[in-house]
Amino acid sequence: MLWSTEYETGHLRVDEQHKELFNLVQQLLDGSLRGDDKDVISHILVTLAGYTVTHFATEEELMIRSEYPRLEEHQMQHDGFTDEVLRLVDLYKNGKITSVDDTIKGFIVEWLKDHIMGRDKEVAEHYKQWLESLE
Ligand SMILES: [Fe+2]
Ligand SMILES: [Fe+2]
Repeated sequence: MLWSTEYETGHLRVDEQHKELFNLVQQLLDGSLRGDDKDVISHILVTLAGYTVTHFATEEELMIRSEYPRLEEHQMQHDGFTDEVLRLVDLYKNGKITSVDDTIKGFIVEWLKDHIMGRDKEVAEHYKQWLESLE
C-alpha cells in the first residue's frame, strides 16, 4: 500500500499519520506474503491497531476544535474500523485465523483509501476554512 499525493489531505500532521498507517499496512502485506511468523504478524497488527487509535484521536480533536458538523458520523466510522482491527488481532492471537488473507487485506486497504479520500479530506478542508475564518 504505497503512498501517493492523491491521498494528501493538506493537513500536515494528518498526512504524516496517514503515511505511517500506509507504511504499517505495507509491512503487514509484505510480512504475510513472506509467510512471516505468527508473532511477527500479530505484532504488526497490534501496532497498527494502536496507531489507528492515536490517529483517530488526532482527527477527532481537529473536528471538535473546528466544530465539524459530521463529527458523530465520522467517529462512528473510526470506531467501526478500530473494532474490526481489534477483532482481527484477537482472532489472530487466539489462532482462530491463521493468515492475514485477501479479505482482511482488502478490507483494511479499501477502508483506509475510501475513508481518506472522502471523509478525511472533508475534515481537513473544513479545518482549513475554520482557521482562515479566524484570521
Ligand atoms: Fe485519517
Ligand atoms: Fe478519519
